[in-house]
Amino acid sequence: MFFDRNEIDRRIRQSIVKSERAIGKGEVASYIPELLNVDSDTFALAITSTTGDTYYYGEADKEFSIQSISKILDLLAALHDNTIEEVYTKVGSEPTSYEFNSLVPITDRAANPFINAGAITTSSMIRGLDVDDKFERVLDYYKLISGSDKARLMKDIYESEMETSVRNKAIAYYLKSKGIFDENPEEVLDLYIRSCSIGSNVKDLSHFGAVLANKGYGLNETKDLIPESIVSIIVSQMASCGMYENSGRYLMDVGMPSKSGVSGAILAIVPGLCGIAVYSPRLDKTGNSVRGKELLKILSYELDLNIFVR
Ligand code: DON
Repeated sequence: MFFDRNEIDRRIRQSIVKSERAIGKGEVASYIPELLNVDSDTFALAITSTTGDTYYYGEADKEFSIQSISKILDLLAALHDNTIEEVYTKVGSEPTSYEFNSLVPITDRAANPFINAGAITTSSMIRGLDVDDKFERVLDYYKLISGSDKARLMKDIYESEMETSVRNKAIAYYLKSKGIFDENPEEVLDLYIRSCSIGSNVKDLSHFGAVLANKGYGLNETKDLIPESIVSIIVSQMASCGMYENSGRYLMDVGMPSKSGVSGAILAIVPGLCGIAVYSPRLDKTGNSVRGKELLKILSYELDLNIFVR
């Protein structure tokens, strides 16, 4: 279905109004104390098409930590620095019905790269001189792909999570005890948490998504920022594992490969068409934004975005 710019804008506005029924539902994440320091009813949406058209609504410049959306960056960097086989012998590729910070889905290795154990594993595979150097590389990757140099480490979020990350510490030490990586677990965890604490906004995040939707090519450029073989892995893992134990139902309802973060952000991809970023901090019990999910479901229908119904 083809819509002109005005019709797209009208349908998006209508979808946003419909999504207001989710206002006030869910709770802001509290296990990282600094995450509570937000207006729980903040709302922002950005859509960037693969041709570079942009649509922005709500507090589109508001900075938030990308949290688990950084698991895409960890996987991207690990796949850049290692072969696909090397990465996928250390981490699985299957969804799990256990929560994102569970120790249960680690048998011989983490179930997939998008639960905490998987992203801690991929973080251990990122090359660099030290944690600062490795993080600089991850952050630079994000800046390059998002087409903006605004992203930065949100120090308050980072320090707050470092002080309270007992579960992730247990996961990192457990992985090390299993021989999954040789690196110092404290340093691996530090890198993982720094990546989670990258501050961005929906505008830049949707641009990042649009590059994934554009086979890894920069928008309106012929330069490939991410190799197609890696894009294919990332987008398919987003579809199967990006929304944790809700991934199957979410894919059925929304039909877009997506990745969420506990800050309340969700990044959705429509291959060949656009990247969509939504931010609304109240979460359901699986750690996904309630209003974000609701809006993406409505938008999928209104703008004909479901990748399984073409
Ligand atoms: O490691 C954690 O628990 C957080 N930094 C990220 C978790 C997360 O975003 C889960 N997402 N919905």
